[in-house]
Amino acid sequence: MQREHATDDSAGSPEPGDSWGSDRRAFVASLGRAGAFAVAGSWLPSMGYAQAGRGPARAFLRRSPGRGDLDRRLLGSFLEHLGRAVYTGVYEPGSRLADAKGFRTDVAREVKDLGVPIVRYPGGNFVSGYNWLDGVGPKVQRPVVLDRAWNSLETNQLGTNEFLEWCGMVGTEPLLGMNFGTGTVEMAVAYVEYCNLARGSRWSELRRSHGYDRPHNVRYWCLGNEMDGPWQIGQLQAREYGRKARDAARQMRVIDPDLRLIACGSSGTFMPTYLIWDREVLEECYDQVDGISLHAYYGSTKEWSGNSTARFLAMNLDMERQIHEIAAVCDYVQALQRSSKRLWLSFDEWNVWYRARDAQSTDGRRGAAPRLLEEVYNLEDALLVGGFVNTLLRNSDRVRVACLAQLVNVIAPLVTNETGVLRQTTYYPYSWALRYARGRVLDLRVESETYRISADGLQADFARDASVPFIDLVATIDDAAGQAAVLVLNRDPDGEREVVLQWDARPRANV
Ligand code: AHR
Repeated sequence: MQREHATDDSAGSPEPGDSWGSDRRAFVASLGRAGAFAVAGSWLPSMGYAQAGRGPARAFLRRSPGRGDLDRRLLGSFLEHLGRAVYTGVYEPGSRLADAKGFRTDVAREVKDLGVPIVRYPGGNFVSGYNWLDGVGPKVQRPVVLDRAWNSLETNQLGTNEFLEWCGMVGTEPLLGMNFGTGTVEMAVAYVEYCNLARGSRWSELRRSHGYDRPHNVRYWCLGNEMDGPWQIGQLQAREYGRKARDAARQMRVIDPDLRLIACGSSGTFMPTYLIWDREVLEECYDQVDGISLHAYYGSTKEWSGNSTARFLAMNLDMERQIHEIAAVCDYVQALQRSSKRLWLSFDEWNVWYRARDAQSTDGRRGAAPRLLEEVYNLEDALLVGGFVNTLLRNSDRVRVACLAQLVNVIAPLVTNETGVLRQTTYYPYSWALRYARGRVLDLRVESETYRISADGLQADFARDASVPFIDLVATIDDAAGQAAVLVLNRDPDGEREVVLQWDARPRANV
């Protein structure tokens, strides 16, 4: 970590753009001002933050009357047929750690203990060349194919049914991805029929002939992956993709009206078509989808952070901004279409990923289960992952699904070898959120000293002159369990920071 924080000397002028509204202002005033000053950076008010002078940070917490319990799917993860994620990650027949079906029991135990609520599968880029039929039926008859996304051999020894069995075993819900690259609408719809229709049709009977008599009832589905990306197999133009998604979704809802369907949003803020893609896609398929995907990876590089720890640790605020921007596009299209439906967001790929990105780490060289994207994480990365979790929780009224990409071996909190499973640093903030963030996210206002970050020399989507609070905090309250949780990131590398919590009413809970 590099120490280069410059604290923000613009503190001291009166507070201008407080977006909290008059009732919230009265609430805060009743608790005492405690030295809140100017909001120099543009993202503070939208987060409920204000700049303060030196001294302890203060967090004012209260229940939001309109806010329901958070959707735990916000803390999901992702498993792609990529590198060693599936093979030797969750599935390794022949290993002394595997059960009779070939599942790694040590990994299954870790995932179950974590309590991961939803897992996206089977990709990622992989899904855009994947034929789901290759992965069902008797294993001896399944073909070995070349996965062109990662130039790796895919043995198909683990496919949809085995994945869904594994989900049952670890107590998670599946989020299945569909091939919108080489795949047709017909086969995407057939996939839903195979999984969810009880009996009596071509694809439902095929599933039954494979030994799965009862339908899997998979509810959450991704309509393709990163279809705007030039790297994506079968990349499409926004309107082409939007029409394909609409057509597929309409047919899928005939099979199962209870589906939750997620359209592909922009692959990231770096895309030249960022926001335009999202608008055009939604203009084509708004009425047939429930959510739109967001993806983002972050790193400590010259272009993204100027190799500065201070800038790196502020990157969850870039995530925050992306959420607000995509939400604005959704609301724009909603208004254009006079729709009563409000879309939610699925941040279904997010993580730190910047080291294992070269050809060596991304080209499988036609091997089976090659070592790809095996990023080794440090403390700095773990701190930022904590920040991402805070951002997701803060925006849980809009982001309903999110997936830490990924779960095992590939840019993952868990890493396997022949003898066991290791926890990386990033495991810890993720596991704490899974364990403690329950119930309702509290409305909050945080007043914290800030430091400046500068746009100089950074890639356009990370180039910001802004004020960043040293303290990043979010809180939940679970009345049923009688427990409150406060998740705090201290961005100050020079030491501890005091935080004063002020509750609007005494919590009926343990903190
Ligand atoms: O998670 C690794 C890759 O990153 C995924 O396959 C792709 O969707 C994204 O670009």
